[in-house]
Amino acid sequence: MGFSLEGKVALVTGGGRGIGKEIARRFVEAGADVVIASRKLENLKATAQEFESLPGRVLPIGCNIGKLDQIEAAVAQTEKRFGEIDIMVNNGATNLEQGPSLEVSDAAVLKMVEINVLSAVRFLRLIVPKMIEKGGGSLINIASIAGLRPQKQGLLYSFTKSGLIMMTRTWADEWGQHGVRVNAIAPGLVRTDFSSYFWKNLDENAQYPPTQPIRRLGETSDIGGIALYLASDESTWVTGQVMVVDGGATAR
Ligand SMILES: NC(=O)c1ccc[n+]([C@@H]2O[C@H](COP(=O)([O-])OP(=O)(O)OC[C@H]3O[C@@H](n4cnc5c(N)ncnc54)[C@H](OP(=O)(O)O)[C@@H]3O)[C@@H](O)[C@H]2O)c1
Repeated sequence: MGFSLEGKVALVTGGGRGIGKEIARRFVEAGADVVIASRKLENLKATAQEFESLPGRVLPIGCNIGKLDQIEAAVAQTEKRFGEIDIMVNNGATNLEQGPSLEVSDAAVLKMVEINVLSAVRFLRLIVPKMIEKGGGSLINIASIAGLRPQKQGLLYSFTKSGLIMMTRTWADEWGQHGVRVNAIAPGLVRTDFSSYFWKNLDENAQYPPTQPIRRLGETSDIGGIALYLASDESTWVTGQVMVVDGGATAR
């Protein structure tokens, strides 16, 4: 028991910056061998270099998670270098066409589904059979509180995150008997590039947001520890759950 991930192999999509980077850092600190995979290889390489002195090893892999062949290549490369995957974090995501629902295009619906939802299905199709064979694994889907209640002008983002939450519960139900656990993390507003539209003009001294009991923006460090807990053997009786980390924004 404990939070050690020594001897474990993890793959974190979007692990080069923001929330994914912090999750990868916590895993590497805990001794795991970690693949960070996203489109911008140069950025991933810089992150890998930053983590060089930490206990676990890091492998950056260029991968557009909207493309099946690139997902297949990323999994094959991970297995070749580190062995079979024990921990998978579906973190990479996009947000297109924020705005009125009636203006949403077919192309945006399909793209959002492909990147935010189908990518997880594709990764798990490759990874889970091997987890079942060896009797265990931990899958973590980064959802959002926008998947629990509608985000203003955010139809596509909300519905893809809500889809990820329902997939989490379904997969947990299906694979729990084989020792494969599936959980989601639903962050509130966290300071990253992704969400800067929502926080860049905020007066941080103001009581923000008024409905959030802990009145500060979330930081990526608020999310990393929960992911480490879900990845580790400290959570072996936890599956199918959505861990909400939002400063209490959804508490009332
Ligand atoms: N920040 C928040 O307030 C907040 C709140 C709730 C949930 N979340 C969720 O947290 C997760 C991480 O977001 P973040 O806030 O950390 O944003 P971020 O810093 O902008 O990171 C997004 C990551 O996704 C990767 N990505 C985007 N499209 C990709 C693609 N097609 N293929 C591969 N990778 C792709 C990006 O890497 P490349 O550009 O290199 O591809 C990047 O590493 C997302 O799932 C987001 O929905 C964020």
